[in-house]
Order: sequence, then structure tokens, then C-alpha cells
Amino acid sequence: MNGKRGPPVVALSSPVVWDDREHIQTTFIDISERLSVSGLPDYALNEVPTGISIADITRDDQPLIYINDMFVELTGYPREEVIGTNCRFLQGERTREEPVAKMRAAIEAREPVTVVLRNYRKDGSMFWNRVTLTPITDETGTVRYYLGFQEDVSEQKLYEKEQAIFKKHAEAAEQAIFITDRAGTIEYVNPTFERMTGYSAEEAIGQSPRLIKSDQQDDRFYTELWETITAGNIWEAEVINRTKSGELYKVHQQIVPITNDRGEITHFAAIERDVTDTRFAEQVLDVMNRVLRHNVRTSVNVIDGYAELLANNIEDPELRAAARIIRERSEVLEKISDRTAEIQGLFKRRKDAKSLPVGNIVEFVERNRQQYPEADIDVQINANTDMEIKNGGLLQSAIDEAIENAVVHNDQPVAKIEVRVCKPEETADVHIEIADNGPGIPSAEWEIITVGEETPLVHSSGIGLWLIYWTVTALGGAVELTENDPRGSVLTYRVPVVID
Ligand SMILES: Cc1cc2nc3c(=O)[nH]c(=O)nc-3n(C[C@H](O)[C@H](O)[C@H](O)COP(=O)(O)O)c2cc1C
Repeated sequence: MNGKRGPPVVALSSPVVWDDREHIQTTFIDISERLSVSGLPDYALNEVPTGISIADITRDDQPLIYINDMFVELTGYPREEVIGTNCRFLQGERTREEPVAKMRAAIEAREPVTVVLRNYRKDGSMFWNRVTLTPITDETGTVRYYLGFQEDVSEQKLYEKEQAIFKKHAEAAEQAIFITDRAGTIEYVNPTFERMTGYSAEEAIGQSPRLIKSDQQDDRFYTELWETITAGNIWEAEVINRTKSGELYKVHQQIVPITNDRGEITHFAAIERDVTDTRFAEQVLDVMNRVLRHNVRTSVNVIDGYAELLANNIEDPELRAAARIIRERSEVLEKISDRTAEIQGLFKRRKDAKSLPVGNIVEFVERNRQQYPEADIDVQINANTDMEIKNGGLLQSAIDEAIENAVVHNDQPVAKIEVRVCKPEETADVHIEIADNGPGIPSAEWEIITVGEETPLVHSSGIGLWLIYWTVTALGGAVELTENDPRGSVLTYRVPVVID
């Protein structure tokens, strides 16, 4: 030893067995070449799972003087392209100015800063970079170097974005939504949950859904629920729950297990739709239907019977004409009662409606052709006849109704009705057009349907259009009314097809 300081070295010691004895072997590595300005050897910095960079901020344009392996891996830029340049080369077209200005200001003030911003790799791909900049102060208190950490937080950003989207939808949803962890502790409730149950988010979070449990379901019900969802399946049923003030309410509930990348269940999302109102509406419909179908219909039949008796036995032509009018009107009333029954049937059947091959529409039209031999009814199918219309089993009444309307209200010598079916390439819907040459459906009447509400001043003259609208809507489709050329109307039903 001559007393001179040698090069900076790192000593690595490890036990070795030599000559049947244990020795400590020490290896000295000369790191003078690799010593970084931070005082840490290069290879140590390369062990870290984050990008590390060092810039000399006293030099012109604050060039990078060091980057670790992870920086190269993260950005795709080789060292020789990067050292000597300012790190802003990572920024691109969609990098926002705000985080950039924040970094600039922090460096100017010699302060630390963390920002998340869009950066771009050498291959042009974007990643969300969390950049942390720390000034390195030397013994004299001056800052010559800045240490930068780069972390790819794209996944986290995506997760945050998905969360934000979910939250936006959940906050606006008409259904009550709550999310629990795997053990069933509530982590999130939406505003509808708060309204429906009377429990605020603050009161509900941290609790078990037992909070809203009523005694209306037995233990077996809940055992089955847990068995279903812990097996990773969606559970769906009608449940009676209890609000904070003790009232019972009925919901249609769906519980969906949420899994992570590895397929493990991390959360459960519960979606509850209040069916108390729906049940009420169904009850009203049932009662109205019974009254119309039985009480009104029976009375109408009696009235018609007496009117017929009068018509056959009265000599006075004026009174005979009056009796005939009574009979005609009775028939209209009878028809209305039938329609109501059909609408009620639609509500009952919509839940388990079957799909229907497009080709079956030909049969529906054929039946109408037989019923109205005086009309000229044509059908054209420009679609694969085997294609299945979703819930298409409900469709017949909407087609019958449109054809009947077109025949009954027609003002031409011959009622011409064309039923055209096509499947436009760009949609997943089949279009069924029913065109006629009649006087056209009055737009005021159609407006009531599209507005969706009858007022005492504007009410639709019949329930036929409602029947069409409800049927097509119930099977997941939409109805459109346009003018036919040269006269009449075209009703277009856009109905979804089954995609397998
Ligand atoms: C050590 C260090 C590392 C940096 N790392 C990044 C980075 O990864 N991504 C980035 O967009 N900017 C980074 N910057 C910021 C830019 O180099 C620059 O300071 C910023 O764009 C503001 O300055 P300007 O307005 O002159 O471009 C870093 C800066 C320093 C000093």
C-alpha cells in the first residue's frame, strides 16, 4: 500500500468451501467507470424496477447524462440516442401542456415534483408515465443534477378510467347498484340505492347487505345465492328487501361476480330494479282486462242481441237504421276488448318469447291474405329466411294489426299492401316494412306514440298503434313511420336478430 487512494470498488463477499474448510471469498469490482453522479453504482440502479434518469440542469437544455436499463426497456430508446438530449423527446402530440409546465416550474424552483403524463416510446406507442423529479443538492447547497423516476402507470390509468366510466353510469342508473368485496362487505352504493333503501352511502359502506335483508326469504334462498355467486355464476331472482324505515319493497336482483386477471373473484356487483311499480301496473292491467273482457263484453253481447231483435222486428226504417248502428258500434267495442286481451297477453308472454325464423313472416302474411281476399297483399323477403328474429314469437300481432289497419282504413278501390323484409349489412336488425296505399296514418296520432303519453286533449283514436309500438318495443326493436310514395304510409319495424 503506498497510501494513494485506489479506484472506487465494491466488495462482494460470499462463503465458499475450500479444502474442507469454509472461507469467505471477497471479490472487488472496480466501478470507477460506472459510478453515477448519485453516488450509487450503475448495476444497483439497474436492479430497480423503475426507469431512472439523471439530467444535468446546469448545462444547456438540461441534457440527460444517465439512464438505467429499465428506462431503455420502458421507452425503447437505446442509450446512445438519449444521453445528451433533453428528456422531452418522450412527449408527443397528445401530451398535455399542464404537467409539462409543472415540471418546468419545479425544475426552475429547484423543487421536487410528480406528474402523470402521456409519453411515447420509440415505436410510437403511448404510455402513461408517472415522472418523479428530485433535485440533488450537493454539499454547497447547489443543485446541479435532477434525478428522475419513470414508471409506466398505463394499466392503473386504464383502471381509473374504467372506474370513472363505471361510476358515471352507476351514478345515473335507475337501478340500485352496490358493490361488495368477496366477503360481502359493501364498498360502493349508487344514489338510487340510497333513495330506494333510505340508507346513505356513508351508512351502507362497510356493512353487509344484511342491512336491507327482510325476513321474507328463508335461509335456503341465501345459501343458494352464495353457492351460485361464489361458483362464479350470475344469480338472478326477485327479492323482497326492507328499507331503513322498515318498509318492504320488491326488486329484481342480479348479482354478478367480478374477477381479476387471474380469474379470481374479487368483488360482487348487485343490481336491483324495483318491481313494485311493475307489479302494480300488471295488476291494473289484469283487472282492466278482466273488466273489459268479461263484464263489458258480456254486456255488449246482450246489447247486440237486443239490437238484432229490434232490427228484425221493427218496421220503421229510421228505427231499423238506428238498431243497425247499435250493432255496428257493439262490434267496435268487442274488437277493443279483444285488443286489450292481446296487449295483456303480450305483457305476459314477453318474458319467455321464442325466436322466430324470418321465413315465418310469409305465413303471417298469408293468413291475412285469406282473411282479406278483397285486398292485394304482397310479401317480399330479401334476407336469409333461416335467420332468427329475437323474441319474434311476439311479432305476429304487430304484423296483423298493421295489415288490418291498412285494409280497414283504405280509401282506394283496391287496398294494396306490401310487406318487405330485408337485412341491411351494416346493422344487426331485420327491417320489416309494411307499406299501404291508404290515406296515411295521421301524424298527430303517431306523435302520441312517439311522445309516449296520452293527454286528455290528444289521444289516439284506437289502441292499434299502441299494440304495434308495444309489441315491437317488447321484442327489443323500434318502429318508424314514413310516407309512402305516391300515397299511404310505411311502418318499419327494426327488430333484432339472434347472433350466435
Ligand atoms: C431527470 C429528468 C427526467 C425527466 N423525465 C421525463 C419523462 O420521463 N417524461 C417527460 O415527458 N418529461 C421528463 N422530464 C421533463 C422534461 O425534460 C422537461 O423538463 C419538461 O418537458 C419541461 O421543460 P420544457 O418546457 O423545456 O420542455 C424530465 C426531466 C428531468 C430533469
